[in-house]
Amino acid sequence: MHELIYLDNAATSHPKPEAVYLAMDAALRRGASPGRGGHQQALSAERMVFEAREALADFFNADNSEQFVFTPNATLAINLALFGLLLPGDRVVTTCQEHNAVSRPLRALQDRGVSVVKVPAGEDGVVSAAALKQACLQDKTRLLVMNHCSNVYGAFQPVEDLGPWCREQGILFMVDGSQSAGCLPIDFQALQVDLFAAPGHKGLLGPQGTGFLYVRKGLQLTPLIYGGTGGSSHSDLPPEHFPERLECGTLNTPGLAGLKAALGFLQQVGVDKVRAHELQAIEKLLVGLRAIPGVKVYGPESALNRGAAISFNLVQHDPAEVGFLLDQNHKICLRVGLHCAPDAHRAIGTYPGGTVRVSPGYFTTQQEIDTFLAAVDAFAQKASSR
Ligand code: ALA
Repeated sequence: MHELIYLDNAATSHPKPEAVYLAMDAALRRGASPGRGGHQQALSAERMVFEAREALADFFNADNSEQFVFTPNATLAINLALFGLLLPGDRVVTTCQEHNAVSRPLRALQDRGVSVVKVPAGEDGVVSAAALKQACLQDKTRLLVMNHCSNVYGAFQPVEDLGPWCREQGILFMVDGSQSAGCLPIDFQALQVDLFAAPGHKGLLGPQGTGFLYVRKGLQLTPLIYGGTGGSSHSDLPPEHFPERLECGTLNTPGLAGLKAALGFLQQVGVDKVRAHELQAIEKLLVGLRAIPGVKVYGPESALNRGAAISFNLVQHDPAEVGFLLDQNHKICLRVGLHCAPDAHRAIGTYPGGTVRVSPGYFTTQQEIDTFLAAVDAFAQKASSR
């Protein structure tokens, strides 16, 4: 029997580049709290955190690394942005495509008087830019918030078109880059985002417990969390300046050391090469799954319009059963169910049962995909002969 096959990179990428493990181990052994002391070890930790921030700014072509606020995950980053920005009476446009990390804070904000308009997706899971623009213009809109790539079926959303348009219209534009950061080249100057949230542990290949919120310079947010920031300790108010305004409490120093190493790895490899590798895997999976009788694949037709999350179902089979048997009999790790994104399933008619989701990553081999496809094929054949 083969080794374990990990095809759950949309949940968290695995494995990490070797440099990530080494950097985390070294940081934990070095110790010290960044920004919380003047001794050599603390200064060295602070320098490392600064370099990690600089690496992010460089990676996303942002003008200023101070505008990157480190968070433990994308969910907290999204909450910082939405609760920090929106006030009763504000109108927000979003999509019927979002992860609960976006839709639940918006639901809570609705209870506080924020109006939320959800624009539906087409059958392929893509929300048209024209429909989003129309929804934005129907009334005075403060914010358009949407994901870049569906975590359920990988559909790319037309963010490149919408960012510059929102800037022209005076509408704030926020992107949840949870499934695209590190997998696609992303340039904040071209995208013209005001807010961008992402985890460090998915496509960016860093460890869990890392993430960030980018806030365009000049945009001020009310903090969600209050506490020590290392400086301005005399004041009972949070500082005005970034990133400290939104970043309090001791940072995840070993995690950020790992994230910095991961960004170094991605810069060395090149995101274009990562995308080319994943695209090959996506194409192979789409062709292979579509050829298996009884399999229905969801999302955009072409691999070019998708990220590395592919959802499918076997007719007459509960996705949980398929996932369980692939794990038990073939040591294949993937995710089944609603993937914390019920609206995305409503859009494609797979609510409430959900789908089986297979998500390759940069380290996935062609052979692993062959083994996975053979396992699904064997399952489908056995099921049809019953
Ligand atoms: N949001 C992650 C996923 O889609 C955890 O699996």
